[in-house]
Amino acid sequence: MAAEPVIGAAIAHDSARLHVSGRATYTDDIVEPQDILHLAVGMSERAHARVRSMDLSAVRAAPGVVAVVTAEDIVGENNCGAVVADDPILAPGLVEYAGQAMFVIAASSIRAARRAARLAIIDYEDLEPVLDIRDAVRRGSFVMPSKTIVRGDSRAAIGAARHRLAGSVALGGQDHFYLEGQVAMALPREDGGMFVYSSTQHPGEVQELVARALGRTSKDVVVECRRMGGAFGGKESQAALIACIAAVVANHTGRSCKLRLDRDDDMKMTGKRHDFVIDYEVGFDDDGLIRGIEFTFASRCGMSTDLSGAINDRAMFHCDNAYFLENVTIVSHRCKTNTVSNTAFRGFGGPQGMFAIESVIDEIARYLGIDPLDVRYRNFYQVGERDTTQYGQMVEDNVLHDMIDDLAGSSSYRERVAEIRAFNAKGGTLRRGIACTPVKFGISFTATHLNQAGALVHVYKDGSVQLNHGGTEMGQGLYTKVAQVVAAEFGIDIGRVRITAADTSKVPNASATAASSGSDINGKAAQAAARRIRNRLAAFAADRYGVPEDAVRFENDEIIAGTERLPFGELVHAAWLARVSLSATGFYRTPKISYDRETMSGRPFFYFAYGAAVSEVIIDTLTGESRITRVDILHDCGESLNPAIDLGQVEGGFVQGAGWLTSEELWWNDAGELGTHAPSTYKIPTSSDLPVDFRVRLLASSPNREETIYRSKAVGEPPLMLGLSVFFAIRDAIAGSGSVAALDAPATPESILRALGAGDD
Ligand code: MTE
Ligand code: MOS
Repeated sequence: MAAEPVIGAAIAHDSARLHVSGRATYTDDIVEPQDILHLAVGMSERAHARVRSMDLSAVRAAPGVVAVVTAEDIVGENNCGAVVADDPILAPGLVEYAGQAMFVIAASSIRAARRAARLAIIDYEDLEPVLDIRDAVRRGSFVMPSKTIVRGDSRAAIGAARHRLAGSVALGGQDHFYLEGQVAMALPREDGGMFVYSSTQHPGEVQELVARALGRTSKDVVVECRRMGGAFGGKESQAALIACIAAVVANHTGRSCKLRLDRDDDMKMTGKRHDFVIDYEVGFDDDGLIRGIEFTFASRCGMSTDLSGAINDRAMFHCDNAYFLENVTIVSHRCKTNTVSNTAFRGFGGPQGMFAIESVIDEIARYLGIDPLDVRYRNFYQVGERDTTQYGQMVEDNVLHDMIDDLAGSSSYRERVAEIRAFNAKGGTLRRGIACTPVKFGISFTATHLNQAGALVHVYKDGSVQLNHGGTEMGQGLYTKVAQVVAAEFGIDIGRVRITAADTSKVPNASATAASSGSDINGKAAQAAARRIRNRLAAFAADRYGVPEDAVRFENDEIIAGTERLPFGELVHAAWLARVSLSATGFYRTPKISYDRETMSGRPFFYFAYGAAVSEVIIDTLTGESRITRVDILHDCGESLNPAIDLGQVEGGFVQGAGWLTSEELWWNDAGELGTHAPSTYKIPTSSDLPVDFRVRLLASSPNREETIYRSKAVGEPPLMLGLSVFFAIRDAIAGSGSVAALDAPATPESILRALGAGDD
């Protein structure tokens, strides 16, 4: 009897049981060495100031304090910025945001360290801060030069169009709110070596930055991460600061050091999603066809560059979403502000770009008095014509028309629109709204060189397998998917494959697990490694049983060579006796992609992932509260490697996107201090915020047209942008009460009341 195929099976996450029973080991759960010191960070209280003096004598004298470390104590490079070296680990006399790390206390307990932090006496000379995006644009305060993409003649096209609209929308940022906060533990090793446990999406980068901070090289540092308790982009670059601090103090004291930020410090000290202000002008026909469009984006990058270049590029690449923009000009300003440096967050600028075009589409529909979905259809990329993006990549795999037809049908979109219109016409305090929005998301790192991965597979002589690759596990199920690939390659039960922690000493130079590419690139690398061993085993079996190599099959935990059939473990043991190497590395580089950073054109993406959502909401026009009453989603994972995990990603991504656009609001005061730094003031969705009626489907029979791992598609980020449908459903409900005012995101009760015109009287 043939076993169930392991590829495409709804296998539970490898750590599901450990997660729910509390036995999964996160960085903070790792048993501490006896000499451990606990760290706390002294943070800037000012948004922009020169530090005249820092009197740390009371800090040093506080009970339990073993050492206090400042910028001067860093023996190597005082920088944790990966792309541009403009991110000091500890502020060197100038502070550029409230919350910036200035000094570190090492003490016998966390409590002692945190208490001592408050005893510092710091004399600041305040400098004028830039706190607002528009203000930054006015002053030309940028972290990097502005960029522009132009296709056609947008000015002329807008001028010649029958209708014209211009406006602005503001769009808030988002805190990652990973349940496990930022944490690292550094253990000094003999002869200047350093071992670092870090909750990071990018162990290789942490290794490199730690080495530089210690005045060492990568060979001296090992970074390990078994899992993160969520990351969402927030541990792509930001984990380096935490790990560098732990390593610097460990190096300074010669003792093991652990830094685990508490939630408030984490929210104040580490970067978030970029908030944007978006200005647009658009010219269009009677039926909503966009003739010409101009966008000016300005985003809050914060005090340093971080990943803002690639994030804002991705916003420019995604402000077409699913639509052909024939004549388009996109200007992107990357603003330097005296706030925390913003960073990667699921979607990486894509959500902000899509928000821009979807806002314009919605405005056009309201203006013309036609259904927004019809305006969307009118502007969709076509097949064979009108199919090239503003950056010159052909949309070759467009499945959106069919998907939207399917979803509009299965969700009874048209019927419900009519029913909701009738409901709203009756008046009263409640209004309902509905919206159907598409997602087209480019898969690959736009920095082409990052699209590479390595893996290391060992087969032991008892027939069990250890798997390692450059990817990290943050809950997304990457380790399970890659183990499925290796099990399939050897034709063995997945229980024979042991998944091991990301470790820079096993796979070097790995890219961040990001851009949703984890399973695409690590899956292929692991497959290549396993295949090398399998080929050696096949050659061995062929020789032993006198059959051609291609007649050797690996299935059901067995090896079949002609008429011979023996357990995998037995063959492996025999191969070992015959001195066959049972260990191999594998490597993968994504094909076909190439892209010119200067002209912003080419093929940055290997392929696109698609999705669509229909959301229905109800709002209370007196309180501004909203609820999601029903959601229908159809999402494209190609041939899903694991539909259970992929469904989880779609549901989770959608809810996180809806949270960003509805309840999660970041608020800074006039001094540039973040006021929303705890769950008491920052509201992420909870189980009670889930749609009352939630129907999620994966697109069936839709193999990736590109040769990805088993023709699957990346799923990590794209579903977040399905949350846009909730925002535009709220916009629809507001329109249902007769208001046409712009709605700023997030659509909190306050924002909804403003759009309803409440408070004007
Ligand atoms: N899912 C969970 N549960 N936790 C996370 O932190 N991060 C998201 C997404 N899904 C995340 C998640 C982000 S930002 C990315 S880029 C991808 O997972 C990364 O993993 P992948 O490339 O393996 O999909
Ligand atoms: Mo995800 S924002 O690419 O880490």
